Amino acid sequence: MTVYIYRGGIPIRFLNKYIRRYWKLYFVTFIFLSAEAVCDLLQPTIMSKIIDQGVGTSDINYVLRMGGFMLLVTGVGAAMAVIRNIISSIVSQRFGRDLRGDLYKKIQNFSFDNVNEFQDATLITRLTNDVNQVQNFAHGMMRIFIKAPILCIGSLVMAALINPSMTWILVGVIPIIVFLIFLNMKISYPFFIQMQKALDGLNARMREYLAGIRVVKAFNRFDYEVDRFTEASKDLTQISIKGMRIMAVFRPGITLVVNLGIILVLWLGGYKVSKGEMQVGQIVAFTNYMTQILFSLMMLSRVFTMFIRAKASASRIGDVFAAENTLQREEEKGPRQAKEETTYDQNIKGHIAFRNVGFSYGGEGEGVLHDISFACKPGELLGIIGSTGAGKSSLVNLIPRFYDVTEGAVEVDHVDVRDYNLKVLREAIGIVPQKSLLFTGTIFDNIRWGREDATDKEVEKAAAIAGAHEFISTFPKGYETQLGQGGVNLSGGQKQRISIARAIIKNPKILIMDDSTSAVDLVTEAKIRRELQKYMKNTTTILIAQRITSVMNADQIMVLDNGKIAGLGTHEELRNNCDIYKDILYSQLGKEGFAHVIETI
Ligand code: CTP
Ligand code: MG
Repeated sequence: MTVYIYRGGIPIRFLNKYIRRYWKLYFVTFIFLSAEAVCDLLQPTIMSKIIDQGVGTSDINYVLRMGGFMLLVTGVGAAMAVIRNIISSIVSQRFGRDLRGDLYKKIQNFSFDNVNEFQDATLITRLTNDVNQVQNFAHGMMRIFIKAPILCIGSLVMAALINPSMTWILVGVIPIIVFLIFLNMKISYPFFIQMQKALDGLNARMREYLAGIRVVKAFNRFDYEVDRFTEASKDLTQISIKGMRIMAVFRPGITLVVNLGIILVLWLGGYKVSKGEMQVGQIVAFTNYMTQILFSLMMLSRVFTMFIRAKASASRIGDVFAAENTLQREEEKGPRQAKEETTYDQNIKGHIAFRNVGFSYGGEGEGVLHDISFACKPGELLGIIGSTGAGKSSLVNLIPRFYDVTEGAVEVDHVDVRDYNLKVLREAIGIVPQKSLLFTGTIFDNIRWGREDATDKEVEKAAAIAGAHEFISTFPKGYETQLGQGGVNLSGGQKQRISIARAIIKNPKILIMDDSTSAVDLVTEAKIRRELQKYMKNTTTILIAQRITSVMNADQIMVLDNGKIAGLGTHEELRNNCDIYKDILYSQLGKEGFAHVIETI
């Protein structure tokens, strides 16, 4: 599968919102951090005083006094750290929560084109791992950001105060370390991006495997799947190892440079002490400041690594935020009829018309539909029949604007669907998708999902029309039966009937049934059809079917072939005029010679 390509330099402006929201608390943590840094900075100096003036002169009172002071400073520093930690954890967790929430909302608003563009797996990685990376960075900033520079510069100043003549060692060492850190960042940045991509790949594999685990078992294709998984896993391992290898060289390299500096201090210091120019305590303090500088630079490099990862992740999140909803854009043009405040049943009557419609996925290629024109009056039943891949699902998907036409226009009640408020348009349409998709929860919840305020009675009525009431009643828990993910504990036909119930409970003006009774036996199907005709008289229904018996009684039947209308008319008309229809009819009636009997049940 193709993983969504990282486009460098996508603005991460989306972060501004959270910065505005949290900068005050951020600022508070910075004050605490600064106080912490000052406490850390004081310690080596106090220690050098204890060594030189207390221990050196055997003044036990001085040692105790300064020791007490040192304890106090450490205590204050620790208290600051605790408070700051509490605040920073809260802020970073809230930030993560907000970002995840906003991202989730954004994805909810995606058009089908957007979802196709990004693919589920990368969206999951972006929602989880990428958000975590950015959140970690936000947390890291509050732990380290201000403290490291204060500690670094402060140590330099304090060391210079102790002995200016040795400060040049520091001045020499620091630029080397800074250079090494910079180099490290520059080299490892591309690896982090690749790592994130490899993780995407792995997630995609896992998801596909888990979704298709039954098929994999049925076909005994474990080895094949394991190989594919291993490959994706190997990709991630290799790229991670490469990234880590760079770290493995740089980290010890930096420590080495600092240790060389310390040796230089000890060597030179020892010489100065022997000449009486310096005291032992000062050398101890000096090396302490030196390690503090190393520590702070290491912290900075950690922040930078986090920054690199976070930047890669933030760009990927930014891509999602920046993705324009193709449909939304149309809406912003200024809808002719923004019917948000009015309800559909006052407005939409269910008239449907296609005018020379052409359509292709992503607006490219040859096209899936060509020059489709037809019209349905309110309450009519249109049957669509045609071989697999003919474009039946694509055609009906244009009505609720899951996709927009590339040519021509789709009209509902003589108004272009692109001029409707999406919510109003979709409110008027009930859809039973080709692949039944149920949610975790009870059967009752799943049916009522179609209309939140439906009563128990209405749910039962809808189930009865859809031919589902009978089998639901045989379950020990009835409507309260818990469904697994995607309704795994139901048969194919049972799932289909529940999704039909979910669509008709909306009492839609337009009902689209995409091959919705394919898994239901003929007797039950005929029954459902009769019920629908009885109760959904005012609903314009589009019924896609494989079996001719399912559409035979329709007001109009459309024969779709290769994206074109090969025939449009009643059963009688098509039987006489349309060759493809005749072929289908004879081939099916041959097999299902009893079909006409079924019709009369
Ligand atoms: N197609 C596509 N991208 C999609 C969905 C479909 O490119 N997201 C293409 C398919 O490859 C197919 C054509 O669009 O060639 C028509 O697909 P569809 O409308 O789904 O065909 P149906 O007539 O609904 O086929 P079936 O009976 O199998 O459901
Ligand atoms: Mg289809």
